[in-house]
Amino acid sequence: MDSLRIRGGIPLNGELCPGGSKNATLPILAATLLSSGSVDIRNVPRVRDVTLMLELLDTLGAEIEVNGSDGVSVNTSRVHNLVAPYELVRRMRASFLVLGPLLARFGQVEVSLPGGCAIGSRPVDQHLKALRKLGASIDLDQGYVTARSKDRLQGADIEFDVVTVGGTQNVMMAASLAQGTTRLRNVAMEPEVVELAECLRSMGAHISGDGTECITIVGQEQLHGGGCKVRADRIEVGTFLAAAAATHGSIRIVDCDPFVLNTVLETFQRFGTTIKTDESTIELSAQHGELRATDIVTGVYPGIPTDLQAQFLALNCVSRGNSRVVETVFENRFMHLQELVRLGANASLESPTIAVIQGVSKLRGAKVMATDLRASSSLVIGALVADGMSQINRIYHLDRGYERIEEKLQLLGADVERVRAN
Ligand code: UD1
Repeated sequence: MDSLRIRGGIPLNGELCPGGSKNATLPILAATLLSSGSVDIRNVPRVRDVTLMLELLDTLGAEIEVNGSDGVSVNTSRVHNLVAPYELVRRMRASFLVLGPLLARFGQVEVSLPGGCAIGSRPVDQHLKALRKLGASIDLDQGYVTARSKDRLQGADIEFDVVTVGGTQNVMMAASLAQGTTRLRNVAMEPEVVELAECLRSMGAHISGDGTECITIVGQEQLHGGGCKVRADRIEVGTFLAAAAATHGSIRIVDCDPFVLNTVLETFQRFGTTIKTDESTIELSAQHGELRATDIVTGVYPGIPTDLQAQFLALNCVSRGNSRVVETVFENRFMHLQELVRLGANASLESPTIAVIQGVSKLRGAKVMATDLRASSSLVIGALVADGMSQINRIYHLDRGYERIEEKLQLLGADVERVRAN
């Protein structure tokens, strides 16, 4: 397993061009299963989760063409295998998103249950409840969900009990091929839901209301080919902003959408950093003055994303004063805290979902271990601040969602190298 070696203490300075959003790309790739035409996707990030999703599509019988450095074209006209196996689904939860499209198009599908993961139990009951309302019969056996529908799925009025991004996406895709109209209430408003809806519209789906709490889908008999360009990864942008702030640097991020980061940018201002934006650029400067500890509460969009909780926690570890970080989306997402303590942070858990932090003026380099994707990025931030050398082990977690992270950090002046495992 590769590791990262980082000599900390150097402010990050310079310009970053973020990659395409992983969390938008994965559902869009699943959506290609809804049509027999080709779907051309641009600005696809080269990260391990995307490779896994392509592997799953390949297993199902899709034809995949890689175009240039960031284009992928998927044609699912020859899909013949309707089973998403445990070996793939357990490595990436987003694989579960093939359930809705395969059920809607072929009337039958078997998908392994994702099981537990490093950040909590993450059930899929809302996906299944909604698909049943669309007329599917669903059985659970030997760790697999088998969903069937004799005829086309039927449009229905569905209200989610909890706001779920994956659930909203799975059901929105299934309803696109259902007979009649589906109204989804209490849906996720995340930009990744909107991006999926935009791609589905390019394929002929009739969807409105995405980005609000209620989405309406008028089902179509079939969808055709289409395409889209994936937008910048807002979590990658937030991660680099946090790294620049923590190291008292200055960063300019180009080709991104500041609007979808509104709450996050306001939070960086509360830390005392200076933020400037225009239509597609964000500048953060933390060169002057201290960072002020800032309470964080994660929430569904437009709240602070749970995927940036770990990075803000790391920033609080090196800010002046006391703070609390409250995780409201997942029940077990503070695995990074004890690793940050190894770097010298003064932080502890008040409960499984609340961390309390007393800022310290210095962190010290140490060996630490990455436990999940975003937890790993908080360790990178800690190591970039720490005096001396840190080594972050098990960075395959980072490779799941960050493209060439060490190269991007090097361009910003960081002293970082990847140590390849033999
Ligand atoms: C979540 C995040 C998403 C992030 C992704 C990867 C939210 C709302 N979602 O999406 O922004 O990019 O993780 O880290 O912030 N739940 C149920 N039953 C279900 C589905 C979900 O109870 O059937 C619960 C989950 O346990 C969780 C909450 O709903 O507490 C949100 O889960 P969900 O949005 O589905 O998770 P992801 O789609 O993985």
